[in-house]
Amino acid sequence: MAKTKLMMLGPPGAGKGTQAQQLAEKFDIPQISTGDMLRSARRKGTELGKEAAKFMDAGELVPDEVVIRIVKERLSEPDAEGGFILDGFPRTVGQAEALDEMGVELEAVLNIEVSEEEVVRRLGGRLSCPNCGATFHEEFKPPTEEGVCDECGSDLVKRPDDRPEAIRERLKAYHAKTAPLVDYYRDQGVLIDVDGEGTPDEVYGRAEAAISD
Ligand code: AP5
Repeated sequence: MAKTKLMMLGPPGAGKGTQAQQLAEKFDIPQISTGDMLRSARRKGTELGKEAAKFMDAGELVPDEVVIRIVKERLSEPDAEGGFILDGFPRTVGQAEALDEMGVELEAVLNIEVSEEEVVRRLGGRLSCPNCGATFHEEFKPPTEEGVCDECGSDLVKRPDDRPEAIRERLKAYHAKTAPLVDYYRDQGVLIDVDGEGTPDEVYGRAEAAISD
């Protein structure tokens, strides 16, 4: 049986969201993306969204206590009982420890490995739908109609944190705060390295094989 308590790990732009979405559909489990949840709060203009926006636009991490709270609430919803795929959480050792304290036992952490050069190419051309969160790429995954979301017909935008300065900050935050999770989960025996280079379908084939016994 496939593993269904999953987490995607990897640098910004590695393709975590792209892979998580496909795996979630295939295994019929919810994709729990803290980035998407924070962007949704922002669109709704909630206090949480306004607070998070300051950190996100600068390419910095939102404080641990804020994200831990929203993930705890989300994991307590009934659809997460049979499995889930965490996308973008945990991102610090503090968040990983909080997840352990919640009693969540991850079955596999997929560590998507890509070069920094490739990350910059992927983020530089990313187009996002501000309405439904779908993601496209100018070169690698263009929408059917230029500038329009295939899923909901909204105008596509570039994310504010995909500006070159913000990408640099996000990579710094990744190396300083998130990369230590590779050893954290290797020590727990659940880390699986996945080669993230190649087309999205090629990466998906590797990711799916890694969690299917
Ligand atoms: P978040 O939204 O999680 O951003 P991220 O981790 O930086 O990841 P991205 O969404 O940028 O990239 P991805 O790896 O999902 O790649 P994607 O599939 O889109 O977080 C944003 C911000 O929110 C953070 O900076 C922080 O401020 C805050 N935040 C979120 N969670 C937090 C937490 N836990 N703690 C604190 N703060 C938190 O792919 C990228 C592009 O490449 C797309 O255009 C895609 O089409 C294309 N692509 C994908 N795969 C391939 C491929 N194989 N070949 C070619 N192109 C590809």
